[in-house]
Amino acid sequence: MRKGLFALAAVGLLATGSIAACGDDSSSDTGSTSSSAKGKVGVILPDTKSSQRWGTDDPKFLKAAFDAAGISVDIQNAQGDKTQFQTIADGMISSGVKVLMIVNLDSGTGKAVLDKAKAAGIATIDYDRLTLNGAADYYVSFDNVKVGELQGQGLVDCLTANKAVKPVVAELNGSPTDNNATLFAQGYNSVLDPKYADGTFVKGPNQDVPDWDNTQAGTIFEQMLTSNKAIKGVLAANDGLGNAAITVLKKNKLNGQVPVTGQDATVQGLQNILAGDQCMTVYKAIKKEADAAAELAIAIASGQKPTTATGSITDPESKKDVPSVLLTPQSITKDSVKDVIADGFVTKDAICTADFAKACTDAGIS
Ligand code: BGC
Repeated sequence: MRKGLFALAAVGLLATGSIAACGDDSSSDTGSTSSSAKGKVGVILPDTKSSQRWGTDDPKFLKAAFDAAGISVDIQNAQGDKTQFQTIADGMISSGVKVLMIVNLDSGTGKAVLDKAKAAGIATIDYDRLTLNGAADYYVSFDNVKVGELQGQGLVDCLTANKAVKPVVAELNGSPTDNNATLFAQGYNSVLDPKYADGTFVKGPNQDVPDWDNTQAGTIFEQMLTSNKAIKGVLAANDGLGNAAITVLKKNKLNGQVPVTGQDATVQGLQNILAGDQCMTVYKAIKKEADAAAELAIAIASGQKPTTATGSITDPESKKDVPSVLLTPQSITKDSVKDVIADGFVTKDAICTADFAKACTDAGIS
């Protein structure tokens, strides 16, 4: 639909020669005029399918932060393609960016890009995902183990509310190539493993979803449910994977009876919560994450030494410390969907469409 509109607009704009810019809605070079003495920043986002955030939220908040500082930024999205990721990086490096910020598609290709940037004297920031062995200058993310703990606890709370007796729990993990997925699993398994061990819960099927691919997640969960009809709870690592499970549960008339977790407070995830099909999500204030990363990049691009990294994390592979900013995630259930709206991350209009009007009123969203 959106592409169709762009195509139409392009016809009208033939004479201006701006078709390429129009068609490429993932790139947003601000072309700021006040930035002549300051360096430019390049940002590479991973895809637009694994989560709403990469196509919508992160580019919006990042652009706003750089625009406000009068720093020129080129934000591009690799659309899940590792070759494309490298090509974008090469372009940014040769265009003379002073800072390169990446969300890697996997640590290997991420490291190759960071190495090239470093060799060209460009400062590097790992945004949201740590590139293992990548030795970026800075890392900005959330406390991702905490994200997982909130998911695990959310599922425990929903199963307890359901008075579930020895429920079989299935786990749909994120991409095995994403260090965050490892940290999320570490967090939720620290809550679930003791429950499996003491017999309160029964450990069911557990699988990684390559590239966080939502379609594959549906296929995987369908197989899980076919071979284990007794599944009574689903730990899904983000809202997209959660929605894939909910779609399968709906087909089996089990939605609403089997709690499913999520992450990212996407419009779809929040609506699934209001509908009673999803137990919880984890809200990560992307604006804060974008602002923190932009603050580091802006300092470097302005020729200053950043002072805003508040801590450091140890890269589990290289054992090197990476100066970091790690923000705090928040658990969201039906009663607190309104908090995400109040924080300005999502509008009431986006969530409370006709189908959800009553659920919104019931959840105190006015
Ligand atoms: C991010 C999540 C996102 C997932 C899939 C993770 O690295 O932290 O917010 O849902 O990737 O894109």
